[in-house]
Amino acid sequence: MERRLPRPSELAPLLRPAPFVRDATQRRLRRAASIADLRAIARRRTPRAVFDYADGAADGELSLNRARNAFSRVEFTPSVLRDVSRVDLSREILGKRSALPFALAPTGFTRMMHTAGEAAVAAVAEQVGIPFTLSTMGTTTIEGVVAAAPGVRRWFQLYLWRDRAFGKDLVERAAAAGYDTLMLTVDTPVGGARLRDVRNGLSIPPALSLRTFVDGALHPSWWFDLLTTRPLQFATLTDSGGTPADMINRVFDPALTMADVDWLRGAWPGKLVIKGIQNVDDAVRVVDAGADAVLLSNHGGRQLDRAPVPLELVEPTVQALGAVAEVLVDTGITHGADVLAAIGLGARAALVGRAYLYGLMAGGQAGVAKAVEILTGEITRTLQLIGVNSVDEIRREHVRLRPNG
Ligand SMILES: Cc1cc2nc3c(=O)[nH]c(=O)nc-3n(C[C@H](O)[C@H](O)[C@H](O)COP(=O)(O)O)c2cc1C
Repeated sequence: MERRLPRPSELAPLLRPAPFVRDATQRRLRRAASIADLRAIARRRTPRAVFDYADGAADGELSLNRARNAFSRVEFTPSVLRDVSRVDLSREILGKRSALPFALAPTGFTRMMHTAGEAAVAAVAEQVGIPFTLSTMGTTTIEGVVAAAPGVRRWFQLYLWRDRAFGKDLVERAAAAGYDTLMLTVDTPVGGARLRDVRNGLSIPPALSLRTFVDGALHPSWWFDLLTTRPLQFATLTDSGGTPADMINRVFDPALTMADVDWLRGAWPGKLVIKGIQNVDDAVRVVDAGADAVLLSNHGGRQLDRAPVPLELVEPTVQALGAVAEVLVDTGITHGADVLAAIGLGARAALVGRAYLYGLMAGGQAGVAKAVEILTGEITRTLQLIGVNSVDEIRREHVRLRPNG
């Protein structure tokens, strides 16, 4: 092969330095192309115990890993030669149109991940037009979310505790603050064994120890944010201290039964979702008791390990419930195609938890926006490559679950 030296005039057009981005957060987020990339940034940016609290699951983390792996069994059946130049990502969820076919799941102690916390997550949900769910274990009050994002569609996740009067008070506050959906979580009679939290000595709020001071040198901006913003504490829960599982065990009521669902149905005027349903019979029972939707979920693998894979429950649950109630699903969603797969199998919509938390840890509100942007791009592209124009057109015949990966 004959070689020659390139001429400067040939090199000049190739020299295109990336434009300098002044904002350090945007600079960090710019190259994140997937939720896994956001996770990698989050891991670098946050103290180990904090990252592990969000990233980890119970015991051997089989529930979470299996739920994630189930999505790798998905095979789409594409059709070609369809005009997919315009696609509609919107979806009706519990009586209202959402701009995207997913909602943001409730996560406790969100301000520990980044002090921007729920306010930032709700603000992004407001901007893009999707529902945001505030957790009972949140670090922003029911009313604080309204102040931060007045236009966001608000859902409130309820844990019922031993003192039922407290639950009633929260329900009344949520109704008064314009939340349209109540989500009762029922997979938490006791706390799951989050081994990473035990090993890391995580307490809520995080204790200042020699170890945390050393960590402060490694993650100065996280500690600076923590110490220079309003104190990190539960917004509705007054009891705190110890590991998250200790707290769950102190306040949550292991004696919760169907009678409580009946009671709640009477007490709550809006839509009622039961979160943490893991078999078809329970789905039928709670819908008989008046639930408008079930959320098939194993709590992101943070409760029972070796739990059923929620994605695999979608089809039988949809068949059993018919059109009487909506079926939502979460756990293990890290890609827009995962959302479409769930919808193809019959789910009305999905919820995402860690996907947005990784964004939050990676870059506060901009990071959450990036996570939603990544998922949106993936949903759009996957729809186009499948050959359909809208999320509503995704059908059972577009999705197959391969037997093994
Ligand atoms: C850090 C963290 C905190 C959570 N806190 C709550 C909570 O307070 N209430 C609740 O019902 N679910 C909680 N969940 C579960 C989520 O709502 C959701 O079911 C789960 O994150 C979905 O799995 P994914 O993270 O793989 O998307 C939490 C999940 C995480 C990761």
